[in-house]
Amino acid sequence: MSLKCRKCHQPAVVNMRQHKLALCEAHYLEWLPAQTQRTIEKYHMFTREDKILVAVSGGKDSLSVWDILLQLGYHADGLTLQLGIDEGIRYSEQSHAYIEKFIRDFYPQAVLHTVDVKAAYGAALPEIAARDDRAGERPCAVCGLIKRHEMNRLAYELGDTVLVTGHNLDDEASVLWGNLFHWQIEALVRQSPVLPADRPGLARKVKPLCRFYERDMAAYALLRGIEYVYDECPFSVNASTLRNKLTLNEMEQEQPGTKMQFYAGFLTARERGLFTLPEAEQVPLAPCARCGQPTSAHGLCAFCKLWDHR
Ligand code: AMP
Ligand code: FES
Ligand code: ZN
Ligand code: ZN
Repeated sequence: MSLKCRKCHQPAVVNMRQHKLALCEAHYLEWLPAQTQRTIEKYHMFTREDKILVAVSGGKDSLSVWDILLQLGYHADGLTLQLGIDEGIRYSEQSHAYIEKFIRDFYPQAVLHTVDVKAAYGAALPEIAARDDRAGERPCAVCGLIKRHEMNRLAYELGDTVLVTGHNLDDEASVLWGNLFHWQIEALVRQSPVLPADRPGLARKVKPLCRFYERDMAAYALLRGIEYVYDECPFSVNASTLRNKLTLNEMEQEQPGTKMQFYAGFLTARERGLFTLPEAEQVPLAPCARCGQPTSAHGLCAFCKLWDHR
């Protein structure tokens, strides 16, 4: 028996077993932005008066969150970082082409800020990773460092801007799994749908898609007609978050809703104060001597040190 949309009883195209909810195309395209709005309100992420900067990679999640926020009437510019990952599959180049296509097709008036890391700092990610010992087999760690620094810098420099990323529930649950498995206490304390701008030099960071499954975001992009870069970054093939995602999906397969309960339970525990550190144990941060962003290092932050390494 084919599934029917809960709202109109036409044939359903999406079945979310974790919510026991099936919807037709039109109702799904209505439901997902409405749920995003609920998440934005529940976690007091931002209002229609705020200036928003969406970090767009050209993937389904970041293009979709930009689309949803513009549909919901928020003031949201885009920001993309070009890391020059163009060996083999020309990943950065493809990503940029999809972002430009999205703007052309849906929002020709939208503003996109682009940071070309090589043009700005003199080297693309593969070169930096090759010369940085720590990165030897893990360019992703250096990539994450560059992205965090540059996203924060732009959002902060543009003034009172909220930085939005496209992290979905699968991303958050797999990071949570890793953080718990290795008892990364500082990371657990900082893992949140909202990070406040609680120090000079830091922008507010939020994740409005954190309650949607990856699969449901892929369905949204597909039904909405958003074309996106499908390939994974060539460096991420063995990344532990991908392995964690596979494990969680196996559990989800056996028991639908497992992933959602795991992450939602964490958020509830956070709200009840389980993941906080006493003030005395918080790592002291001071402004980096070069860029001014808060850092626990003495002198230069890890990002600024990258460029001194020759
Ligand atoms: P990832 O770490 O690749 O799973 O990406 C998580 C989120 O970070 C994406 O949904 C985007 O919001 C953002 N992001 C990732 N890569 C870039 C990029 N090159 N430029 C701008 N934002 C990015
Ligand atoms: Fe950063 Fe792949 S996207 S290493
Ligand atoms: Zn319907
Ligand atoms: Zn610095």
